[in-house]
Amino acid sequence: MTNLAIFASGAGSNAEKIIEHFRGNSHVRVALILCNKPTAGVLKIAENHGIKSILIEKEDFFSPNSCVSALKDHQIDFIVLAGFLWKIPDALVNAYRGKIVNIHPALLPNYGGRGMYGMRVHEAVIHAGETESGITIHYVDEHYDEGDIIFQAKCPVEPGDTPEMLAQKVHVLEHRHFPEVIENLLRS
Ligand code: GRF
Repeated sequence: MTNLAIFASGAGSNAEKIIEHFRGNSHVRVALILCNKPTAGVLKIAENHGIKSILIEKEDFFSPNSCVSALKDHQIDFIVLAGFLWKIPDALVNAYRGKIVNIHPALLPNYGGRGMYGMRVHEAVIHAGETESGITIHYVDEHYDEGDIIFQAKCPVEPGDTPEMLAQKVHVLEHRHFPEVIENLLRS
């Protein structure tokens, strides 16, 4: 059995799609949700699905060991970042090198890096006059949004699109592709 941990800071719509995708899977299970915001919707999603969650404090997450021991205690094999807003400490990257993936709501290497998350990404894409955007799923290393790219999918940016409209198109791509990309990675 491969045990997944999902790290999330927000609503958790991607986390929920991943949980639903692997429900009943005899090889992969979502064993833990790790969150850094007490008000995050993902905590309620974890409760609704009967999945253990950890609300982590900043000083613990950025301590020398980070949360590696907690993850090992839960036999976590693979980490999925789904809207997690803290940079992953080197200790955690090293402990799970090649086993941490992230989803970014734009076509990296453009529109990524520190501070580029949520609506800021979509505002920047529209402001730049791009005619397409999309999602990037990539491995996580010591640098924001710079790990090897695993998968990308595109959507058009049409005249009159607001950042909210673009966000909606991107969310559709995320929900359709992220679970399957994770499953394919774990199968390979
Ligand atoms: C998604 O747009 C994802 O691309 C980004 O954070 C957002 C998380 O949304 N990394 P949700 O919490 O899964 O709804």
